[in-house]
Amino acid sequence: MGVVSTSLFNTRSLRASEVDERELKAMHGRANLAGHEGPWATIWGYDGTVPGPILRVQQGRPVRIAVENGLNEDTTVHWHGIRLPNAMDGVPGLTQPPIRPGESFVYEFTPPDAGTFWYHPHADSLVQIGRGLAGALIVEETEPIAVDRDILWMLQDWRLSADKQISAGFGSAMDASMSGRVGNVVTINGTVPVSQVVRAGERIRLRLVNASLARIMALRFEGHRPVIVAIDGQPCDPHEPDDGRLVLAPAMRIDVVIDMQGEPGKRYAVIDDFYDGLAYTLTTLAYDNTSPLRTHSLDAPLGLPRNPLQQPDLAKVERQEIILQGGMMGGGKLTGVGGMMGMATPGMNGAAAWAINGMSMTGDGHVGMTPQFTLPRGATCHLTMRNETAWWHPMHIHGFSMLVLARNGSPVPHRQWQDTVLLAPKDTIECAFVADNPGDWMLHCHVADHQMAGLMTVFRVT
Ligand code: C2O
Ligand code: CU
Ligand code: CU
Repeated sequence: MGVVSTSLFNTRSLRASEVDERELKAMHGRANLAGHEGPWATIWGYDGTVPGPILRVQQGRPVRIAVENGLNEDTTVHWHGIRLPNAMDGVPGLTQPPIRPGESFVYEFTPPDAGTFWYHPHADSLVQIGRGLAGALIVEETEPIAVDRDILWMLQDWRLSADKQISAGFGSAMDASMSGRVGNVVTINGTVPVSQVVRAGERIRLRLVNASLARIMALRFEGHRPVIVAIDGQPCDPHEPDDGRLVLAPAMRIDVVIDMQGEPGKRYAVIDDFYDGLAYTLTTLAYDNTSPLRTHSLDAPLGLPRNPLQQPDLAKVERQEIILQGGMMGGGKLTGVGGMMGMATPGMNGAAAWAINGMSMTGDGHVGMTPQFTLPRGATCHLTMRNETAWWHPMHIHGFSMLVLARNGSPVPHRQWQDTVLLAPKDTIECAFVADNPGDWMLHCHVADHQMAGLMTVFRVT
């Protein structure tokens, strides 16, 4: 290509044609996870920080991210929710060889969808995410909606010991077969939250990412009415959540728009009350004393431009069903995976505690993962996920976003697309997606302990 005068192009399209080059290093570091006075904890983080750097990239612009492994064990990076070529999906043994200590791997892809995504390892995930390896990946819209501020809350849950270090004992049989490793400290953007200063009248876009191993959250904003504009990075019809709670399971993202309608000088709690009897105040919105930015809420549309997802053809579908089995039932009995475990203690030392359609794929990505089903390229898959267990499971699909059709037979409104769908105990969810991306793709529960203990499978698009 010859040299062209830049005046022929606007700066945006010129920049958009160049590859956006980034670097990340998975390494050991230290972080303050215990509040002001607490001792610092030893962590594993991208560039040594918790969370890792926020990667802000542009929709449709190629990115190249060189990842160096500064850990003492194999790693990979998975770009959670991004629809990318299979070879860039970051699953060791399935889509790439693991990155050995001291080695690097270059990921290259062009994000087709704008929205809120995140990145994390897919090797020894329970330990690697649990020790801090996670970061936000924001793909910017060409035409963002009008807000005064665009804010990110990267939510992480930690199990800290008395000395404020990340406690060892990952993968206990109890965590594996029950709710997973739920911790005792929640941080926002890597720090124990105090308050968030806001100004009356301002409109905020808040991007919520739950990067916890196992903690499900249900956030309520006292005195405020957040409007959901996107779920898992995909725009939906703007709506207020049922009973005002934003339910975020591990790996889920929700973008909300909040008009700060409180009074100057006042404080409003943000409460997480997902677990019965265990509600706590995550943080507070602290209004400064300045006069309201505006008297009436901004009169601008809330709908984000839709991403270029292929519409499922519901008249002609390939039906597939995934049945989630196992876990501890009442009376301390484990069901659904009987016969496959021999004499091993379920969930112990990598033994299976869960199964999908009677099969337990344990651990993390590895060689020899046989696909559970195969889809011809271009077909619409109608996927039913049936939770036969007594536990909650955020089921995550790689490489695709699924249109959520129905929950327990009732249609799901707001045209929501998700890559991670939370199933309550005994729930049945129906989704659809077009199998337009060839390769072997993972489908697993994002409670890391559950995945490790068998709630994982693979499907193939030919
Ligand atoms: Cu967010 Cu298979 O992962
Ligand atoms: Cu993923
Ligand atoms: Cu699960």
